[in-house]
Amino acid sequence: MLNFDYYNPTRIVFGEGSIARLDELVPTDARVLVLYGGSSAERNGTLAEVEAALPGRIVKRFGGIEPNPAYETLIEAVALIRAEKLDFLLAVGGGSVIDGTKFIAAAVNYAASDDPWHILETFGTHIAEALPMGAVLTLPATGSEMNNFSVVSRKSLHAKLPFASPHVFPRFSVLDPVKTYTLPARQIANGAVDAFVHVVEQYLTYPANAPVQDRYAEGLLQTLIEVGPQALATPQDYDVRANLMWAATQALNGLIGAGVPQDWATHMIGHEITAMFGLDHAQTLAVVLPAMLDLRREAKRDKLLQYATRVWNIHTGSDDERIDAAIAHTRAFFESLGVKTRLGDYGIGADAVPHLVAQLEAHGMTTLGERQDVDLALSRRVLEAAL
Ligand code: NZQ
Ligand code: ZN
Repeated sequence: MLNFDYYNPTRIVFGEGSIARLDELVPTDARVLVLYGGSSAERNGTLAEVEAALPGRIVKRFGGIEPNPAYETLIEAVALIRAEKLDFLLAVGGGSVIDGTKFIAAAVNYAASDDPWHILETFGTHIAEALPMGAVLTLPATGSEMNNFSVVSRKSLHAKLPFASPHVFPRFSVLDPVKTYTLPARQIANGAVDAFVHVVEQYLTYPANAPVQDRYAEGLLQTLIEVGPQALATPQDYDVRANLMWAATQALNGLIGAGVPQDWATHMIGHEITAMFGLDHAQTLAVVLPAMLDLRREAKRDKLLQYATRVWNIHTGSDDERIDAAIAHTRAFFESLGVKTRLGDYGIGADAVPHLVAQLEAHGMTTLGERQDVDLALSRRVLEAAL
């Protein structure tokens, strides 16, 4: 096992009716900014429930944080917070609202540059402080509710870049599975795929003699394979939603990635596809991952065989046949949820590949993967194989 430093200070308050607990989670003298997305939180009553749980505080709203949150939008919230002297941020939404709120929390008092886009240019390494924030999660997918990562887009640059900082862990996150009942099927499917790929990025690398992390990862993958389709088939089944929600949180809260090599090449290539063509985050992962696993089968051979046996119960055939079958099962799982796995399914052709590779280069994504051996030539081959 590799050395690690595992720190996760986010308190999770889980279950039906948990939004009422905000009254004890948010300081009574806080000047709160409630941040949300388009219209879902307003339409389904979550926003009203949140505000009702915050009696006596000054509470302002900032709506309109879009999927793949845009710097151009977030910077407006920074100005509002400074003008109104607000001091506590409460994100109500999915990964985009939570990620956007993390950026805002870090940008308000950012000292390293006049333009907080610098946070993305330097992967968050110059963040010295951030406003305290909490979250009310409405979409199980990203794990942002219990981690210190954020991904922000800048439309004018066609850029979608990640940052991380210990200062942007949510103080708490409220997870009420009932709040996911209003999600469209597409977002449930996206969530299952995103969480699945998060586990794969931390598990399917090379053996590090870390059986705790491996078995935990395999348990999460098997749970997602089980509950993903159930969540689509029976949308108001509380236990199914609860298990999907907790699996997605655990998939990226740092635990299974501690002490093991991590990949993330699929995510970084996926971000470029979203930045250029606007695909949902999970759609990009469903497109890139099968091609990525296929082309890197030598470097990932041992773990691919373990994945085939333990996750997909594939026990017959030669090594390569079992790896082929595991990749085919992975693709079929995504497709069965309704998430297409070819660039062509989204109207993207071979002419896009050089542009995507150029963007990877422009963003410094020239050596990706657990061995930093996914160079631009390999990324190009992955994209070509994903057509
Ligand atoms: O904007 P509204 O109207 O609220 O609608 C949203 C949005 O259109 C809707 N929605 C959310 N909760 C709902 C609901 N609709 C009905 N009922 C509800 N309860 O869902 C749509 C998508 O929301 P979004 O937040 O964009 O989805 P998701 O949670 O999948 O987040 C995706 C973003 O997270 C980033 C992605 O790159 C992407 O920008 N990621 C963040 C990570 C992290 N912080 O660790 C890791 C991930 O790999 C990922 O990169
Ligand atoms: Zn993801």
